[in-house]
Amino acid sequence: MAEQRSSQWYAGTDRNAYIHRAWMRRGLPAHAFDGRPHIAIANTASDLTPCNAHLNEVAESVKQGVYEAGGIPLNLPVVSLGETLVRPTAMLWRNMAAMAAEEMIRANPIDGVVLLGGCDKTIPALLMAAASANLPAVVVPGGPMLTGTFRGQALGCGTDVWRLSEEVRAGTLSPEQFAKSESSMIRSRGHCNTMGTASTMGLLAGALGMVLPGVAGTPAADSRLLEAAHDSGRLAVEMVAEGRTPSAILSRGSFLNAIVALAAIGGSTNAVVHLLAIAARLGVELTQDDFDRTGSAVPLLVDLQPAGRFLMEDFFRAGGLHAVLNEVKDLLDPAALTVTGQPLVSYLDDAEIWDREVIRIRAEPLQGQAGIAVLYGNLAPSGAVIKPAAASANLLQHRGKAMVFDSIEDMHARIDDPALDVDADSVLILRGCGPKGYPGMPEVANLPLPTKLLQQGVRDMVRICDGRMSGTAYGTVVLHVSPEAAAGGPLALVRTGDVIVLDVPGRRIDIDISAEELASRVPDPATVSAYAAPTRGWELLYVRTVGQAHTGADLDFLVGASGPDVSRESH
Ligand code: FES
Repeated sequence: MAEQRSSQWYAGTDRNAYIHRAWMRRGLPAHAFDGRPHIAIANTASDLTPCNAHLNEVAESVKQGVYEAGGIPLNLPVVSLGETLVRPTAMLWRNMAAMAAEEMIRANPIDGVVLLGGCDKTIPALLMAAASANLPAVVVPGGPMLTGTFRGQALGCGTDVWRLSEEVRAGTLSPEQFAKSESSMIRSRGHCNTMGTASTMGLLAGALGMVLPGVAGTPAADSRLLEAAHDSGRLAVEMVAEGRTPSAILSRGSFLNAIVALAAIGGSTNAVVHLLAIAARLGVELTQDDFDRTGSAVPLLVDLQPAGRFLMEDFFRAGGLHAVLNEVKDLLDPAALTVTGQPLVSYLDDAEIWDREVIRIRAEPLQGQAGIAVLYGNLAPSGAVIKPAAASANLLQHRGKAMVFDSIEDMHARIDDPALDVDADSVLILRGCGPKGYPGMPEVANLPLPTKLLQQGVRDMVRICDGRMSGTAYGTVVLHVSPEAAAGGPLALVRTGDVIVLDVPGRRIDIDISAEELASRVPDPATVSAYAAPTRGWELLYVRTVGQAHTGADLDFLVGASGPDVSRESH
């Protein structure tokens, strides 16, 4: 049997090898340490991450597969992030989860790792960790939940919370009916069933080649997920034998394939910061502009909420990711590999669309050009993004007066003031919500519309923010404005009443003032006082070292990889 990394701990007759083996013996026989691969199951199961709570059962299936292939499976609980619960925002902790997982993968006697994630930040954090530790790794996405219904209508997780809550504010749904919908929202185990960030990142892990082909998008409650988990355990053992590491799989072509997939599925804007961060861990050249260059001309083929009608259960039934990728096969890098060692495109030949309402054929797309548009201008010198597929077509070229909010608290305090000086053409600006300013770049960019405008029937307005937007949200929202206000970006200099010019076809976002006037402005003290000023702990480290959105918002000292080697012994 080939020399394993774990043999550095277990092989030999000296005192240290004795210690390493003895404390692990609790039921493991002597031959568990004879050089067979030890596979960690990086497990984000947690009762406080409800979308991932079922992953312990998935881990059991992985274990069976590892054993069957002759390996030793080892559960490795890692930091878990529940999108709906953790404060101030799960994104503040993505890099911490990635750092902790990377270090625990490297620090322990393991040869390969199966990554179990689901809720939004968990798969990105695990992929960042695996990229930097560079041991053979395969993702098992936890999968979306089944479709819940309320009053005979399907409920989209997240998307319908926004929609129903806006209906309450508009007076067209009673608070009692709204409360009743709560118990119908979450039908089963699994993550949000819209094309939100969790669905997007699970599918993009597949498009990157990091999931057993055909598995991404399998609903959490579908027994085929456990079968896939079993097979992924077997595969992890094979990957160790062949030395198939993330750096051997993930190329620039893999990331461009993921960008094509992101556009065709109408995926979350959050994928921009996550893919940039993962690529930077690997040293793969990828910029925000690649999303526009490669993805913006790709047709939208998937009719899922929030951009469309259906949900992930429908998507899987209709043929899933491979059916979509087969329609855009000519846009994919044929050389990009998967965890099996075979190219992604080699798995697409027998992919079929079983429901052309849910997944469209290339000749009949939902939109001819989807993807992410990257905007530049005097408001966003390093760029900002917008998802035109989730925006109102009539607002993609727009001029309007700014209404500026310095913080989320300022917005909440004033947004429903009947005296707020806004109309349907106003541009709502929320700043202080970038990586440093909040801190953690929360999903607040789709700020609610003023009630008085909702009551007039207004359902969308141009909104601009240095934060992110939930993948389940929709609207004409310019987000990830970079540099953020708290990092000295011109977003800090906008004043209520300034005219904002949005031109998505022209890829521009500007304040309509002269360069001289902009240069002469300084931020208002009230604006600056809204930024986070942590004094200790993770938040202090984060604010000091986090990068801007257009680079992936990783910590500067985590960019890159250290590989799997550890030179010193603990005893
Ligand atoms: Fe976990 Fe939506 S809250 S995926």
